[in-house]
Amino acid sequence: MAQGADRRIEPGRSIAVLTSGGDAPGMNAAVRAITKVAASRGIHVVGVVGGYTGLRDGALRALTHDVSTPSGPAVVPDPEVDAAGSLGGTVLGSAREPRFLTPEGRRPAVALLSEPGRFAGLIVIGGNGSLAGAHALAQECAVPVVGMPASIDNDVGCSSSAIGVDTALNTIVDACDKICDTARAHRRAFVVEVMGRDCGYLAMAGAIAVGADAVLFREQGRGEEAIVDAAVRAIRGAFEQGRGKQRVLILKAEGVSVPCTRLVRLVEDRLGAELPGVDVRATVLGHLVRGGNPSFQDRMIAGRLGLAAVAAVLDGATDVMLGWQGPAGGVATGDPAVSRYPLDEVLRQSAALVDGTSAVTRRRVLMMEQVEGVLGL
Ligand code: F6P
Repeated sequence: MAQGADRRIEPGRSIAVLTSGGDAPGMNAAVRAITKVAASRGIHVVGVVGGYTGLRDGALRALTHDVSTPSGPAVVPDPEVDAAGSLGGTVLGSAREPRFLTPEGRRPAVALLSEPGRFAGLIVIGGNGSLAGAHALAQECAVPVVGMPASIDNDVGCSSSAIGVDTALNTIVDACDKICDTARAHRRAFVVEVMGRDCGYLAMAGAIAVGADAVLFREQGRGEEAIVDAAVRAIRGAFEQGRGKQRVLILKAEGVSVPCTRLVRLVEDRLGAELPGVDVRATVLGHLVRGGNPSFQDRMIAGRLGLAAVAAVLDGATDVMLGWQGPAGGVATGDPAVSRYPLDEVLRQSAALVDGTSAVTRRRVLMMEQVEGVLGL
């Protein structure tokens, strides 16, 4: 089913937009896209400062203003919004707001959004926690609530990529290339931990892109001993006689329960004197992976999802998220790569991604099993 024609919104109503949860590169590009698309249709946009905390407190900031042009009055984006499109982080600010988990905690936000004649809808840009908040709000308030997936973790259902994933992977590739430079100089092994919460996608995709020797992620379901075994195998295999290999790089996902320092100690204990002169070092990339100016891909996804999000609000669609190259069954938009999905379906799919029952997770794990022997070469 394709989206319908724009619903006419009452003059004077604005679209509200907020960024929430862990920031992701491309959030500003999404705000820019929403603001420009809305302005082009004569609709004002207000930014909510500080995510759901700001929505509770009524912390709003105009992102558009009126101008008079030779052809008549027009709505234009504020210049800062335009300039911020190429920046990382989020200029609107973000928050993790535990009070939003209860109906009482959401009440001030519902009251604000439902003020007569004030808002045409709310667009929420964020990951699963933020989209769960959007789903709850959509049941409670009088205006459309529409979500856009933004999280470096790539753990949002119904979207093959979220805003921020591509930039995070580029950062991981860059950091690992640099670590490999120094690792080769000393013939060292490195365990590099990357963010991703419970989702191993960044570690898996990063490992392929940098030619890592091994990758460790929660979805493998390995206990501590098996994790240490895998790391020892990779190091032994790489530094065995005749290979001439100069570095070992093991990517470890944040979700793996063994901390990096413990893993390195256990690996060194197991290797003992077997590989004299081989040091094993750990680097946790941490929040470095979340920063930086968004890549072309993240800006493009942000722009195209933003266009469809404004269209969804104008259609009066609520409790939906726009997904990028998502599964069959979504509501088609004017963009073949973008579809609308009900938020409860998105959240169900997100949970399945993490608990391993999703076909997407099974496919990712299978692919990594298939390349395990190749990575070690
Ligand atoms: O969800 C994005 C993310 O960066 C995760 O990868 C990570 O586990 C978490 O947020 C860190 O959150 P915080 O910045 O609140 O410590």
